[in-house]
Amino acid sequence: MKIQIDHKDFELMIEHEQVKKRLRLIGIQLNVAYENRIPVFVGVLNGCFMFMADLMKEVHIASEVCFVKMASYRGDQREEEVKTLIGLPNSLKGREVIIVEDIIDTGNTLKQVIELVEREEPVSIAVCTLLLKPEALEYDFEELAYVGFEIENQFVVGYGLDYKGIGRNLKDIYRAV
Ligand code: IMP
Ligand code: MG
Repeated sequence: MKIQIDHKDFELMIEHEQVKKRLRLIGIQLNVAYENRIPVFVGVLNGCFMFMADLMKEVHIASEVCFVKMASYRGDQREEEVKTLIGLPNSLKGREVIIVEDIIDTGNTLKQVIELVEREEPVSIAVCTLLLKPEALEYDFEELAYVGFEIENQFVVGYGLDYKGIGRNLKDIYRAV
């Protein structure tokens, strides 16, 4: 099946049923790894919203869920850009954190998110991403423990991911052709 967003063509890549199957398996892994540890799932908006909603239906252990958004503004020194995470819970100190991402491309965003979460002094940080583009990845993350699908270095939309702001509501995942 093909769709068009803003004159760009996309074709079906991963059906929702396939995503759901994969999430059941990741859920089992999380339920075992974090039993009795009350982890905090920290979703990075906007892209993670659908993934997080479906993933959490497969997580049956006691856990907390919150969402953050990366924000940047000019610091006191001119040119200096300050990155913050809006929406972090009051304290992640001593907690087991699972960062939930829609997609990791170069890894630049994730690197910044990890650095900001680390400042809160959690006892552990793991990363759970729906999609990973191994060929585009510029870092070696030891935190990257849960990956839904490894994909080629292509642009994708749907299931939370957008092209020019459009397409986040698509149930399946499409790739640019
Ligand atoms: P990174 O910092 O290069 O790893 O990617 C940062 C962000 O770019 C992701 O969180 C997405 O919001 C966006 N992004 C990267 N690849 C895609 C894609 O294929 N489709 C839609 N958004 C993408
Ligand atoms: Mg994102």
